[in-house]
Amino acid sequence: MNLLLTRSPAGVYSAFKWVKVDISGEKNASGDARHNPVFLDEVTAWLVTDRAEIFVDGTVGYGGHSNKFLEMAENKAILVGIDRDEEALAYSKVRLSGFGVRAILVKGDFADVKQLLRKVGVSTIDGALFDLGVSSPQLDDPSRGFSFQEDGPLDMRMDQSTGTTAGQLVNALPESELADLIFLYGEERFSRRIARAIVRARERQALASTQDLTAVIKDSVPVAYRRGRIHCATRTFQALRIAVNRELDVIEPAIRDVVDMLRPGGRLAVISFHSLEDRIVKHTFRALAERPHPQVAVLTKRPQVPSEAECQKNPRARSAKLRVVERLPKESIQ
Ligand SMILES: C[S@@+](CC[C@H](N)C(=O)[O-])C[C@H]1O[C@@H](n2cnc3c(N)ncnc32)[C@H](O)[C@@H]1O
Repeated sequence: MNLLLTRSPAGVYSAFKWVKVDISGEKNASGDARHNPVFLDEVTAWLVTDRAEIFVDGTVGYGGHSNKFLEMAENKAILVGIDRDEEALAYSKVRLSGFGVRAILVKGDFADVKQLLRKVGVSTIDGALFDLGVSSPQLDDPSRGFSFQEDGPLDMRMDQSTGTTAGQLVNALPESELADLIFLYGEERFSRRIARAIVRARERQALASTQDLTAVIKDSVPVAYRRGRIHCATRTFQALRIAVNRELDVIEPAIRDVVDMLRPGGRLAVISFHSLEDRIVKHTFRALAERPHPQVAVLTKRPQVPSEAECQKNPRARSAKLRVVERLPKESIQ
């Protein structure tokens, strides 16, 4: 990791390691090709209104959505961008530095959104976005350990400064817990076989790399499954990633906290990438909209899905779903 910043940022409140960031290079519709944000226009259309002044991007990543919010909202609005990945945050810090004090970047977990916002003096907001999951640079960098396509350490932590790695989980969890984890978070029908094979393999030698794990998975599943439409390690890797980062546990409480901070008329948009996430978003929105004391109105009766054109340009968009709620005035709530 390099140690210099190429452009000096402004409005930064967090204390995190500086990394060298090069924001030059190819551009896409969001103005940058590192990560291709999904639903860029749709999210901006939902969130950027004449009255909106304070936005929270709970998953700022490589700054695609945030950059667009700040551009569209012109000089009025400020944005607080949160991410638990230091590299992503450092990149966005440089990318959004042209907006000066209008872009405030904070390292943290959006599970702590209330405390993080309080620290920067924000208690009410007009718009918020959670673009769940991992970014393309996280997936594409073998040293992060998210990908079964390339070799790297079994890490998978979004925040590399804390927490349990995927390697620690696969080498230490009892077989039954490992099987349950792979089944619940990966919806993997061969979870028991895979867990058994992992335990056998680690008795010989601890699994150290993504390729060690991929080889064990490959050997444990039926040949037809190995040759299936999706790579046979996809679901196990998804399960481990979700467990390592507690991805599902934080969604509902964070949505409730954000809704609590929204001004009447303010909106929250959530983009999910698999059914486990989307189910939680849907149920939480439904619960918050329940009569007789609804806190929100659900603006997307069915989730929005990306256009064919967006999927062609960005295959990662294929599984994306967008749901949006609007905070109701206090009188609807009492
Ligand atoms: C899909 S990417 C977001 C991309 C972003 N919208 C953009 O345009 O570049 C998801 C980001 O959310 C971050 N993230 C995921 N879960 C998080 C959490 N609980 N707290 C903070 N950041 C999180 C990841 O580190 C990643 O950078």
